[in-house]
Amino acid sequence: MSTVLFISGPPGIGKTSVAEALSEQLKIPFFDLDQLIEKEKDTVLSAYIQNLGWSEFRQSESNRLQELCQLLTRLQSNATQKQTLVSGFADNHDQTYYKLEAVVSLGGGCVLKESNRLLMRELGPIFSLWGSQALIKQRLHRRVKHNPQAHPLPLSSSGDLNQLLLERLPVYLDCDAWIEVYEGESPKQVAQRIQKIWTHHQTVKNDLPEMPDPSSKSFWYSPPHQDSFFSQNFKPNSSEQTDVKSAIPPLEKSDTPPLMLHDYPIYLESSAQDKLIDQIIKWLTSSVSHNQKAPQLAVFSDDIVARLYGGELVGALQSFGIQAHLISFPVGEQSKQLRVVEALSTQLLKLNFTRSDCLLALGGGVSGDLCGFVASIYLRGVSWAQIPSTLLAQVDSSIGAKTAVNHPLGKNLLGAFYRPDWVWIDDHYLKTLPLRHLKAGWVEALKHALISDPKYFEVLSTLSLEDCFNEPNSITPVIERGLQIKAHIVAQDELEKGSRALLNLGHTLGHAFEKADPNLLHGEAVALGISFTAEYSHYYNGLGQEQVQQIKLSLAHHDLAIDWRKYINEKLFKRLAFDKKRSGSQLNFVTLDAIGKANIEPIDFELFKARVNELSQASVVLDIQ
Ligand SMILES: NC(=O)c1ccc[n+]([C@@H]2O[C@H](COP(=O)([O-])OP(=O)(O)OC[C@H]3O[C@@H](n4cnc5c(N)ncnc54)[C@H](O)[C@@H]3O)[C@@H](O)[C@H]2O)c1
Repeated sequence: MSTVLFISGPPGIGKTSVAEALSEQLKIPFFDLDQLIEKEKDTVLSAYIQNLGWSEFRQSESNRLQELCQLLTRLQSNATQKQTLVSGFADNHDQTYYKLEAVVSLGGGCVLKESNRLLMRELGPIFSLWGSQALIKQRLHRRVKHNPQAHPLPLSSSGDLNQLLLERLPVYLDCDAWIEVYEGESPKQVAQRIQKIWTHHQTVKNDLPEMPDPSSKSFWYSPPHQDSFFSQNFKPNSSEQTDVKSAIPPLEKSDTPPLMLHDYPIYLESSAQDKLIDQIIKWLTSSVSHNQKAPQLAVFSDDIVARLYGGELVGALQSFGIQAHLISFPVGEQSKQLRVVEALSTQLLKLNFTRSDCLLALGGGVSGDLCGFVASIYLRGVSWAQIPSTLLAQVDSSIGAKTAVNHPLGKNLLGAFYRPDWVWIDDHYLKTLPLRHLKAGWVEALKHALISDPKYFEVLSTLSLEDCFNEPNSITPVIERGLQIKAHIVAQDELEKGSRALLNLGHTLGHAFEKADPNLLHGEAVALGISFTAEYSHYYNGLGQEQVQQIKLSLAHHDLAIDWRKYINEKLFKRLAFDKKRSGSQLNFVTLDAIGKANIEPIDFELFKARVNELSQASVVLDIQ
């Protein structure tokens, strides 16, 4: 059975160019609903909307969508007619490559009508593109500048774009797949990501029914239920408590023993979904004491990971009789704040979570930090485990029991050391991770190499993250070495009284850069911090110029910005002053003696400030940008 991919999202996000790129990649036809309306009405949309108004336009949009869907359905049922049918609709399709699939770019408001969504879901999934408000505003501005005839926005009288986005968010969230678009990403890169997700779900979900049930709202991701910004996918089954023990499938012995850090295991697996379910059931069962009911489980994920993996995991656990709930929160660093901790705890309280119930972080570093922090304070502490789904979380943040949220005055200022019961690392999750996030995660692995392993540095420097998924198992040893180094350092000094501070390499300034520029990902800010540290270590600690160049080249080779100078100003120093690693007037700054050898250098804050200023005026060691 064929499928049509519908691309939706707010105005200006780039639906048409992404859909076009996707159609080129998949070699399937592309339809643009707005263009089809213009063609039918023989006028540009701006004039049409101006003359007849938005409600008339929305009606035409629905009619044209219906015609298009009927056409595509007829094509599905009668492949031989396709040539004639298609040529009446759009003239630019090369019939030789025509398959029974298509990409359709929708107008921003087309998904607002539920009847439209139902119609589309009979043919395929609706992808929802989304981006930061700054990005959307910037792109809209560019669109109007380049094309004054671009159609206007359906803004309220206040002309408030934020309001429009806020109103539409629940509808976009209700689409089948949520695709975050990042600053600087080309339509081709976004399309590649969609293709990756699409292919991934087609291959792993071979037990899917061929056609979705259009009334079931979505068919491969479970959309979070929208009763508030914080949503919960699966309502608790209030009827009866199932005994988890009776549902346990026999456990297979793992071929490779897990890495142990203190008293908790770190499993390194590859596409081992069934084993993961066994692991969770074993864990929950082991926490059931005599005459106690089976524990409930809350899976904490951000909105994207909830859609990609959370619904599926929770559904599978429920089928084993486990009272599992998916609790999701908005994507990104903004969720690492006390307000969110309170909202998540409220969800747990409403679900009657007790001290014997368990939490599971499924997601990147933000989910791990947030879930771990909630676990550490909810009813004075409940059990938790982690399934990191970004490279950064797999090689770094999931190891070492640090949990935290941010304070308006600085990053990770409120937190606790709180060990998980176990950590499950599976490279399978990385297949859907955007390249930009892979690169940001790679930076933390590079940091580990710089601290203690020159050979690992070489491996990472030549690693192509673009290609690593075409070569099976090429990423696994990279993850393994990174987490071994981290685990080794943490094992010596879990509470960061001494040597663990080595792991702050690149982070002292990195955190301040991250706060200064919200568009930077954590790993990207750390890359700038490492670039600074390399130059600092050259001037003040004698790190060889050649090694500075190697470090900066390695970062630049992975498209990471290394020009830290533009971030240096008084405001940055104020942020630095709140850095939690500072004790009294001293700062513990991590420097490099060589690639593979780092040092913790206590330095007076004022002296450090003077050195940073001096260095920012000094000539650049290897100016690549
Ligand atoms: N606790 C620690 O020791 C420690 C160490 C380093 C970093 N951190 C923290 O980690 C955070 C950064 O972590 P991060 O970069 O993982 O951020 P993140 O959790 O925000 O994830 C990055 C993005 O990737 C998406 N994503 C996650 N998994 C995905 C998947 N498998 N497929 C597709 N998309 C996926 C997320 O939705 C998000 O948009 C920062 O807050 C940082 O302070 C903590």
